[in-house]
Amino acid sequence: MNNPADHSPDAPLDGDLRPHSFDGIQEYDKRLPRWWLLTLYGAMVFAVIYWAYYHAYSIGTPPALALEKEMAENAVLAAQKSGVIDDDTLWKMSLDPKIVSAGKLTFDTTCAVCHKPDMTGLIGPNLVDHEWIHGGKPMDAFKTVNEGVLVKGMPAWGPMLGRQKISEAVAYIFSHHKPGEEVIIVPGWTPPPGVMAIPPPPPAK
Ligand code: HEC
Repeated sequence: MNNPADHSPDAPLDGDLRPHSFDGIQEYDKRLPRWWLLTLYGAMVFAVIYWAYYHAYSIGTPPALALEKEMAENAVLAAQKSGVIDDDTLWKMSLDPKIVSAGKLTFDTTCAVCHKPDMTGLIGPNLVDHEWIHGGKPMDAFKTVNEGVLVKGMPAWGPMLGRQKISEAVAYIFSHHKPGEEVIIVPGWTPPPGVMAIPPPPPAK
C-alpha cells in the first residue's frame, strides 16, 4: 500500500505525473478531494449570502456595528446603575435615540418656555450654538441645570427633576453638538428685544 505521508525518495509513485518539473520537483495529477471542494463551494455560497444580508440589502446590522452599539448601550446602563454621570456617559446618552426622545419630552415641557423649543434662546441662552456661559461640556450643562443660576433666572432643576431626567435633557441638548467642537465662553446672554431677561418673581401669597 502506498502511504501518502511517506515522502521518502524511494516511496512508490502514485497516479500520473504531470509533464513539467521545476528544480527537479514534479507533481501528480490528482482530483481535489470532494470534501475539500464542498468546503470551497460552501464558503462561496456563504460569502454571497453574508454579503447580501449585511451589506448589499442591509437586512442585518453588521456584527462590528452591532457590537459597538451594544457596548455603548451597556456603558450607559452601567453608568446609570452605578450612578456615575460624566461627560463620556452624557455624550454616549446623546447618541441613544430612546434617551434623547425622553430628554426632548422633558425639555419641551420644562425648559422650552425659556430656551425656545428649538433651543435657540429666549429668556435663557441659545443651547445649540458654540457660545456657552458656564462651559460647553455636558457636565457643565448638567451642573447648571442641576444647581441653576438663580440670580439670572435659571431655576435649579435638581430637586424637581432628579438626576435621570436632567441627564436625559442634557443628552438631548448635546445630541445637537459633537465632542471636541468649538466652545466659546461668553459672559452672558442678551435676550431678544422685548423679552425680559429675568422673569418676574412669583406673585406674593
Ligand atoms: C425660567 C426660565 C428658564 C427655564 C424654565 C430653564 N432655563 Fe436654562 N437658563 C435660563 C437662564 C436665564 C440661563 C442663563 C443663566 C446665566 O446667565 O448664567 C439659563 C442657562 C442654562 C444653561 C447654561 C447655558 C450656558 O450657556 O452655559 C443650560 C444648559 C440650561 N439653561 C438648560 C436648561 C434646561 C435643560 C432646562 C429645563 C430642565 C432649563 N434650562 C430651563 C433660564 C431658564
